[in-house]
Amino acid sequence: MSKRENPYVSQSPGSTPKKRMFSAVQANLNTFTGLPYSDKYYDILEKRKTLPIWEQREEIIDCVQKHQVVLLAGETGSGKTTQIPQLLVEAGIVKDKMVGCTQPRRVAAMSVARRVAEEMDVKLGEEVGYTIRFEDLTSEKTILKYLTDGMLLRESMADPLLERYGAIILDEAHERTLATDVLFGLLKEMLNSRPDLKVVVMSATLDTQKFQDFFIGAPLIKVPGRTFPVDIFYTPEPEKDYLEASIRTVIQIHTCEEPGDILLFLTGEQEIEDACKRITNEIASLGDNVAPLKCLPLYSSLPRDLQDRIFDPPPKSRTPGGPIGRKCIIATNIAETSITIDGVVYVIDPGFSKQKVYNPRIRVESLLVSPISRASAQQRAGRAGRTRPGKAFRLYTENSFKKDLAPQTYPEILRSNLGSVVLQLKKLGIDDLVHFDFMDPPAPETMMRALELLNYLGALDDEGNLTPLGEQMSEFPLDPQLSKMLIYSARFNCSSEILSITAMLSVPNCFIRPKDSQKQADEAKSKFLHKEGDHLTLLNVYHAYKTEHDDPKWCWDNFLNYRSLVQADSVRKQLANIMQRLQVDINSTVFGHREYYPNILKALCLGFFMQVAHLEKQGNYLTVKDNQVVHLHPSSGLNFKPEWVIYSEFVLTTKNYIRVTTSVKAEWLVELAPHYYDLSNFPNCEAKRVLERIYRRSTQSTPNLAHTSI
Ligand SMILES: Nc1ncnc2c1ncn2[C@@H]1O[C@H](COP(=O)(O)OP(=O)(O)O)[C@@H](O)[C@H]1O
Ligand SMILES: [Mg+2]
Repeated sequence: MSKRENPYVSQSPGSTPKKRMFSAVQANLNTFTGLPYSDKYYDILEKRKTLPIWEQREEIIDCVQKHQVVLLAGETGSGKTTQIPQLLVEAGIVKDKMVGCTQPRRVAAMSVARRVAEEMDVKLGEEVGYTIRFEDLTSEKTILKYLTDGMLLRESMADPLLERYGAIILDEAHERTLATDVLFGLLKEMLNSRPDLKVVVMSATLDTQKFQDFFIGAPLIKVPGRTFPVDIFYTPEPEKDYLEASIRTVIQIHTCEEPGDILLFLTGEQEIEDACKRITNEIASLGDNVAPLKCLPLYSSLPRDLQDRIFDPPPKSRTPGGPIGRKCIIATNIAETSITIDGVVYVIDPGFSKQKVYNPRIRVESLLVSPISRASAQQRAGRAGRTRPGKAFRLYTENSFKKDLAPQTYPEILRSNLGSVVLQLKKLGIDDLVHFDFMDPPAPETMMRALELLNYLGALDDEGNLTPLGEQMSEFPLDPQLSKMLIYSARFNCSSEILSITAMLSVPNCFIRPKDSQKQADEAKSKFLHKEGDHLTLLNVYHAYKTEHDDPKWCWDNFLNYRSLVQADSVRKQLANIMQRLQVDINSTVFGHREYYPNILKALCLGFFMQVAHLEKQGNYLTVKDNQVVHLHPSSGLNFKPEWVIYSEFVLTTKNYIRVTTSVKAEWLVELAPHYYDLSNFPNCEAKRVLERIYRRSTQSTPNLAHTSI
């Protein structure tokens, strides 16, 4: 028996969901703790009652009772994410089972869980919690859980019918992330075997026809938003530099427009931090006659306490009666629909966001700054009209809006490498991927590439069936290359070191390089550099951090991101737990032994043998087999150009870069992955000729480690 109990049900078992819903907000004592509610609870309750969704609670409960799947579309900020999950708990529709609400973004899952814990006056992590990759803040008591869509997909592998849940809310469905799209198909299939399971699909007010066509017969509830008109301004001419134009626009608004907060959309951490600094400096240079402006960044890797500051009130005026200060939130797409910030009156939309792109032909997935869609632009503009009429400044021409922007963003499934997802689906026993009910089926070539990758890694056999190795790999919340490497590293007596490297690869970049002290930062970094390459440098950093007893001051002095390292440590522990569960040894070669580094490098090759570049005679690198010209990323610590490198990441900017690169020997590649380095299907190139010589030299054949299962 689970310890979880829904007090709304146990305290009034004979009641109806609607009655429970009404009495929940009339109670004087906290239903969970039996204690009087805090003042804050009542404050927030008053605000909740003004949300557009509040009046529709009865209708929603009725509908969820009658139908297994309900679609709900409502303007951002109408209260969907914070109110609907609570409502299902309070009405007791799910009995003692959990309500799970998915979010495409980690930040949103954390932020909203924290807010809802406050709204329900409980401690975060107890009745209300969240689960994101490598972080689980839930307990046995948890009845309302926010989680990333990727985590729910992962949970379904251990619990294929999601028995712990009485209701699943797929939130932000319009975002059409890869994991949400797969969940659509899985849940649809699950409905028959779980007649008691309720599914609510929530989205912003976009084209909902797709959802209606997919969940045939599901009713659609529309929540009319309380939005104010937003005037839209375009630039008369295209902007050459959107960052410059954005900064200029912020200053203009701040100095010329009525009070009201500003929301500026940029594409990533670096750009956002730069813009914050530059705007702050420019405002400071204008002197004390200008009202204070507080720049607040918002992006996914931002530390939690800083994330929360976006909800702080704007700064006070410098002198009593002086001009009122304002907030300028500079955010990634997170602020488009996931997180609502009240008080925004001005939106600046440069028209770009970082989007995943995948080219199956050359097997490259990368994040690329790309133009947004018209639907996205509409959502962004809408953020200006939450509390009163607002203005949206689009930093592109009206003609460009009409002609250049696509009407909708392409679903992620159409622009992703599907390796991980196919492995998970195989683990779920879904063998016939061609007939899986995808809302938008991925391109056959993409699917082929995923199967090919998993076959080369040894996770699938030649018939496409999951091998025992594939079973083990699917247990790790990692890319298949990394899980393969981790499992096999024990055979090279270096799984402890590979664990550390994998953990470091799974967290935000640990090196800090502030614009105004790049030289000092580079000097600090040079102490950790390993001559063979960046993977070993990461290992050096991790070891040094542990030797210094996780000291934050030492991190600060050495230009290392303390939070990244704390996170790496936690990721490492969790991965180690999975390894123990799977009975994979955690071992090391004695440091100083001449095989210490070669062993680690060989293990890296076992994961990354398909991500290799060869140095051509002209001095440029070509990716192996796909023959793409690539360059070592400027952040690489390699001070020479090795003939063969493995890389962890492909970065597309003005050039093709490979990032996190390490020198390896061609002999290892041939020895460890002969099925991939089989020259009979190798394009004609310099690398092939080098490999031919190696094959000729090697007299004895070595066992095909990469392809055998354990
Ligand atoms: N952490 C928070 N602090 C203050 N207000 C919040 C917080 N999170 C959400 N809200 C407020 O709750 C309201 C409803 O938000 P939400 O439920 O996320 O709407 P929707 O999901 O429909 O976009 C918004 O007005 C938002 O400003
Ligand atoms: Mg929401």
